[in-house]
Amino acid sequence: MAIKSAKGTRDILPGEVGGWQRVESAAHRIFALYGFREIRTPIFEPTELFVKSTGSDTDIVTKEMYTFTDRGDRSITLRPEGTPGVVRAVLEHRLVGQGEIERLYYLGPMFRYERPQKGRYRQFSQIGVEAFGSAHAATDAEIMQMVIALLADLGIADALLQINSVGHSECRGVYRQALRDALMPRRDELCPDCQRRLDVNPLRILDCKTPGCMQIVATAPRILDYLCSDCSTHFAQVRECLETLSVRHEVNPRLVRGLDYYTRTTFEVVSDKLGSQNAICGGGRYDDLVASMGGPAVPGFGFAIGEDRLVMVAAEMPGAGPCSAPADIYIVHLGPEALKEGLAAAGALRARGLATRIDPDARDLKKQMSKAAGWGARYALLIGERELQGGKYALKRMADGEQHEVPARQWDQIRLEIARA
Ligand code: HAM
Repeated sequence: MAIKSAKGTRDILPGEVGGWQRVESAAHRIFALYGFREIRTPIFEPTELFVKSTGSDTDIVTKEMYTFTDRGDRSITLRPEGTPGVVRAVLEHRLVGQGEIERLYYLGPMFRYERPQKGRYRQFSQIGVEAFGSAHAATDAEIMQMVIALLADLGIADALLQINSVGHSECRGVYRQALRDALMPRRDELCPDCQRRLDVNPLRILDCKTPGCMQIVATAPRILDYLCSDCSTHFAQVRECLETLSVRHEVNPRLVRGLDYYTRTTFEVVSDKLGSQNAICGGGRYDDLVASMGGPAVPGFGFAIGEDRLVMVAAEMPGAGPCSAPADIYIVHLGPEALKEGLAAAGALRARGLATRIDPDARDLKKQMSKAAGWGARYALLIGERELQGGKYALKRMADGEQHEVPARQWDQIRLEIARA
C-alpha cells in the first residue's frame, strides 16, 4: 500500500495555500505597523531548553515532546512552541539588554504529540510574537489590540478576548497553597492526572477538561482574589488601557494557561467557530523568563496564534473569496517553430509580471485550449506557423472567446492589453 502522511500531520494542498498566504501576509503587514521584526529560529533545539523554560511538569514537556538522541548523543527536541527558542536567540545574540526594547515575531511549524482532532495536530503552525523590555500594562493592551487588529483585517469580528492575571511568583505561591487546601478534601473525586497535579502543580487543575474536575474547580478560590497590590494594580491598568483602546474583552479567572513562565497577564482569543479546540491565540506576560534563562532582568510579553485554526476561521468569513494563484496567459503552440517562439514568449511575459504557462508536450489545439481553461487562464496566446510567418499572434479572451491579432514579440503591448481588461 502507498505510504500515507504520519498521524496528526497533513498536506496543505495548492487549493488551500492561498488562505495561508493571505493570513501570513496580513501578519507581516500588521506586525510591522507595531514595530515588530521577523526572526527565524531552528525547528529543533537542545531538549533542556524546553524543560527549563516551558516547564518540567507541564503537559507539553512531560507528554507531548518529540525528543530523540541524535548521532552525536545529544538530546534534541522538535520545538513544541516558539517562545523558548526566541528567548535563547535573543540571549545568544545579545539582542536586548536591560532597559532596551526588542519586538520580534515568527511563523512556522511546531510539534506536539497530542491526540489529533479538528483543529489539533501533531505538526501545526504558529504565528507568534515576543516583546521584550516593557513591563508596562499599556504594552500588554497594545499587543492584545494587535491580535484583534489582525483578526479584524481578516474579517473576523466576533472572536472573544479573555484575560486574567496569574500574579507574580509570590502571589501565585500563596494562591497555589489556597487552591491545594481547598481541593485536598475532594482529592478522590479528581481525575488521576489532577490527583498528581494537586501535589506537583495544582494550578494545572484549572484547565483540566474532565467534566468532574471542571465542576469541582468552579467553586475553587479565584486567583484574582490572591493578587498582591502591585499585581492587582497592573491588572486594573491593563483593563483600563484595553478600554481606552476600545478592545472588547472579558475576564476569565480560570485562565492560567498550560505553560510555566507566565507572570501577571494571561490571555486567550477564542472563537465559537472552532468546536472544542476553540483557542485561536494564547499568550501573556513573562517577566522572569529571560533572567531565569541566564539573561538580564528583562520583562516580556507575547502570544502565539494557531495558524491552522486562524486559517479555518478566516476562510468562513464573508468576502474571504477563493484565494487562487494568478493565471494570466496560456500559450498555445502549433508546430515545432511555434513551440520555440512560445517558450521565448513565456519568458518575456513572465519577466513582465504575467503568470504564464506553456505545455511543451501538448500538441493539438483542442487539448491545449482545454488545459488553458482547466488552469483558469484569463487569456490564451495562440502561436501557429502561419501566424508566425505573418508576424502576428492571436490573443483570445477566455471568458467570452473574443479573439484578435497582436503583433508578434510586442510584449509590452500584450501586457498593456491584459492590464486594461
Ligand atoms: P499555546 O497556548 O500553547 O501558547 O499555543 C498557542 C496557540 O497555538 C493555541 O491557542 C492554538 O491556537 C495553537 N495550538 C496549540 N497546540 C496546537 C495543536 N496541537 N494543533 C493546532 N494548534 C495548536 C504557546 O505556544 C506560547 N508559546 C504562546 C506565547 C508566546 N506566550 C508568550 N509568548
